[in-house]
Amino acid sequence: MAETPRGGTGQIQPGQPNQPGQPSHRREPGKQNQRGKRRPQGKDNPQGKDNPQGKRNPQGGRQRQPRDPARQVALDVLLAVADRDAYANLLLPQLLAQRQLSGRDAALATELTYGALRGRGTYDAVLDICCDRDLDSLDPVVREVLRLGTHQLLATRIQPHAAVATSVNLVKDAAGQRPAGFVNAVLRRVATRDLADWLSLAAPARDADSVGYLAVRYSYPRWIVEAFAAALGEAPGADMSQTEAALAAGSERPAVHLCVVPGLADQQELVAAGCTAARWSPFGAYLTDGDPAAIAAVAEGRAGVQDEASQLAAAALSRVGLDGADARWLDMCAGPGGKARLLAGLASQAGGAGARLVAAELREHRARLVQSAVTQVGSAGVIVADGTVPAWREAAFDRVIADVPCSGLGALRRRPEARWRRTPADVQSLGGLQRALLAAALDAVRPGGVVAYVTCSPHLAETQDVVADVLAAQPGVEVLDAPAALPEVPGIRAGPGGRYAQFWPHLHGTDAIFIALLRQPGPTTP
Ligand SMILES: C[S@@+](CC[C@H](N)C(=O)[O-])C[C@H]1O[C@@H](n2cnc3c(N)ncnc32)[C@H](O)[C@@H]1O
Repeated sequence: MAETPRGGTGQIQPGQPNQPGQPSHRREPGKQNQRGKRRPQGKDNPQGKDNPQGKRNPQGGRQRQPRDPARQVALDVLLAVADRDAYANLLLPQLLAQRQLSGRDAALATELTYGALRGRGTYDAVLDICCDRDLDSLDPVVREVLRLGTHQLLATRIQPHAAVATSVNLVKDAAGQRPAGFVNAVLRRVATRDLADWLSLAAPARDADSVGYLAVRYSYPRWIVEAFAAALGEAPGADMSQTEAALAAGSERPAVHLCVVPGLADQQELVAAGCTAARWSPFGAYLTDGDPAAIAAVAEGRAGVQDEASQLAAAALSRVGLDGADARWLDMCAGPGGKARLLAGLASQAGGAGARLVAAELREHRARLVQSAVTQVGSAGVIVADGTVPAWREAAFDRVIADVPCSGLGALRRRPEARWRRTPADVQSLGGLQRALLAAALDAVRPGGVVAYVTCSPHLAETQDVVADVLAAQPGVEVLDAPAALPEVPGIRAGPGGRYAQFWPHLHGTDAIFIALLRQPGPTTP
């Protein structure tokens, strides 16, 4: 079948947190769905009683080969994401391998899965017009097939008749004959217009409701549009061009960034292996094509996959001038170990004798990932510890990084479902831990020492608000000029006096990472 997806395929990053889910058509009664409503127990048959392709096995894989294996994989991932909180970037590669899909089939499955997940907000707005039933009242199989079909119709080069026919077959195979006519009718309605036409009907007028317009146009919940606008200093109703660019970039396929361990490899080695030197990080390179594990330095643990802004956060901490000792560094929230790997390399080269990095991580299984990340570097020790209940004495360290747990709104490119899964309540509930970890980091650093507070979220409640609240209780702490530690990177100034660094995908091609550099007052402060 000559099908050419228009959108890019999603990028799969190794070492992502969280557990893979398994696909399932089983619904938990009354389970809260991703549209935030209680899902009624549908009358339809999610187990596919009259499923002509055979029953599902316990892993959700088919016992007989489905007639459309690529779309079946996409559907199974969407159902697992919706019903079991699975992570697409973990489950998809598992299913592709399990069902032995490669080449064009794998590319199609990837494009459809990531496209339907990212575009859900837009597609649901269109489907709300085309369906005479509330989307939330539909059987999950029917709803996900409609989203997949709508993505194919509005955002790929797949012929409309093929998009509709394959969707009808998919729903027949998964849920029986009964919903096939409904899916056929709805998708035929979707096929009557292109995306631009649908947006003019489905999205609010930009002048009347700029946030609502951007939410539907770029497929985000309203609260994320508002959060990005606030972080970019743009007001709803005024010029929101930066917000719009940030939203658009959040749905793009991220390049794979690699980072060497200083002392064990250098940027030149990655370039010689076919990568492009990173724009700013002296340790980084971009891999445009292929498997990172095929690069010798990565396979041997002398380099790893790490976003360039994440590299620069670690570099910024290491660049701040210190008076006095510079021998003990702490990574307080180290798992899975990207920054710890780079910091361990940098520590080994610090000063004359080098420094030693302690990498602490709350969760044992993530501490094991840190251990394997730093295993090639001699200068690091990994401990399982709660940063808020320190396993170290006060003022024990010269440099501390608190790369705190956060909403991850800065890495939406890598996690296509995250924008629908995260809620404002998550951001609120993380605030206490973020404040406690930053306060503990300031306690852990000696007078004159430096703390880097880092998040992979641009949300002000996780960035500037946290720093402001903690510093209000510790008025002597100095806010250092973080962008000055990264003079090579343009356009990162943020916050009062522009002293914080805020990266953005649309400006820097990186995750939206926030960095504050803070110095404990002391006699040795220069
Ligand atoms: C944003 S991630 C850190 C990413 C890491 N620095 C890297 O570059 O790979 C936050 C980590 O903090 C850990 N964590 C959560 N609460 C913690 C606590 N109280 N003490 C220490 N680590 C904690 C989480 O398990 C998670 O691995």
